[in-house]
Amino acid sequence: MENFHLSMPTNIYFGHGMVKKLTKHLNQYKRILLVAGGGSIKKNGVYEQVRAVLDSMQIKVFELWGVQPNPDIESVREGIKICKDNDIEFILAVGGGSVIDASKAIAAGFYFKDDPWLLFYDETKVKKALPIGVILTLPATGSETNGNAVVSNREKQEKLSIHSDLLKPVFAILDPYYTFSLPQSQTAAGSADILAHLFEQYFSKNLDNYLIDRMTEAVMKTVIKYAPIAIKEPENLAAREQLMYASTLALNGLLSSGKVTDWATHALEHEVSATHDVTHGVGLAILFPRWMKYCYSDDKAIKYVEYAVNVWEIKKEDFNFIDFNQVFEKLSKEERKSIAFEAIEKTAQFFKSLGLPDSFRSLNIDPSYSKIWASNLIKRDKSAGNFKVLYEEDIKQIYESCFE
Ligand code: NZQ
Ligand code: ZN
Repeated sequence: MENFHLSMPTNIYFGHGMVKKLTKHLNQYKRILLVAGGGSIKKNGVYEQVRAVLDSMQIKVFELWGVQPNPDIESVREGIKICKDNDIEFILAVGGGSVIDASKAIAAGFYFKDDPWLLFYDETKVKKALPIGVILTLPATGSETNGNAVVSNREKQEKLSIHSDLLKPVFAILDPYYTFSLPQSQTAAGSADILAHLFEQYFSKNLDNYLIDRMTEAVMKTVIKYAPIAIKEPENLAAREQLMYASTLALNGLLSSGKVTDWATHALEHEVSATHDVTHGVGLAILFPRWMKYCYSDDKAIKYVEYAVNVWEIKKEDFNFIDFNQVFEKLSKEERKSIAFEAIEKTAQFFKSLGLPDSFRSLNIDPSYSKIWASNLIKRDKSAGNFKVLYEEDIKQIYESCFE
């Protein structure tokens, strides 16, 4: 294993009625900013419940509404202004990843003297941040307990991320009932995003991390089992509970312990949503099976076969967990590849079964964007990924395959 540092400071309150825990964490503040999206929390009653708790305390609540999916830096600027004009002490994000990420950027931008977009070119400039708390309504990004913020600048057609331990929320309230109102499309996209986070960490060159790999597979299987149930029965509590905790565990840092992780597919997706308002999970569901195929090689086969056998239970009867490697060694190259590609096909079919689009063409994107996205990504990052390092031509080919 690689050496690692893991910091998980966020207090998690999981379950129905946990909104009351706001009193525990907010009683020291007099002025807070509540950040929200386009209004889903008003429709499903979450806002009313949150306000009822806040109004029972002596807190002055300011509100920022209208944070859009793939949050824009404009909302961040607006939030910072409200915070500065009103001496805000704490930010409460009520919503999905976009609302949480915008809140984190506001928290960091509050102490930054220049335009907050500059933080996204150099995250080391995040030196201090307002404390934030989260009430999660969409299991997907893991933003509820991690230190990432992903923000778009539509004017510049850029979508960039920052990471800082200073941006980790103080608390996250995870009430699965708040997710009953999610439309099928968001449940599907959120589930694809959770799986994508697991893939980014699982497909690693480090083959010496049995514990974390098996934990990651368990979270993958949970999503594969429960996402279809949540889509069919939006008020199935067990399914909503499982997805909600899967979202958090998938990207709180635990599952990258001791590993060099990949993140190429996320980098590729961010270029797509920078130029087109594609839902993050939709872009990932299209890209990931193609990325898996593109990166396959004989020397990487073991990881794919582990994924096939342990997650999709392909040829499960031939393997057991004690001597997995010995069984693998006896397979021919062709057999390994066939198992791997069956698992990739099952992954693609699973996304399709959730109702997710399976090509960029079906999103009416012009294929000429393959070249533009690849060039934009390379201008900034030079390469993408670690499992297989991808350069401009590789990236362009993966994008092109997404139009087929
Ligand atoms: O805006 P409102 O009205 O709230 O509606 C939202 C939005 O339209 C709706 N929604 C949320 N909860 C709902 C609900 N509708 C009904 N009932 C509920 N309970 O869902 C729509 C999408 O919300 P959004 O917050 O955009 O979705 P998500 O949580 O998937 O966040 C996506 C953003 O997070 C970034 C993505 O790139 C994208 O910008 N990511 C953030 C990460 C992080 N911070 O660690 C990592 C991820 O890989 C990702 O990049
Ligand atoms: Zn993601």
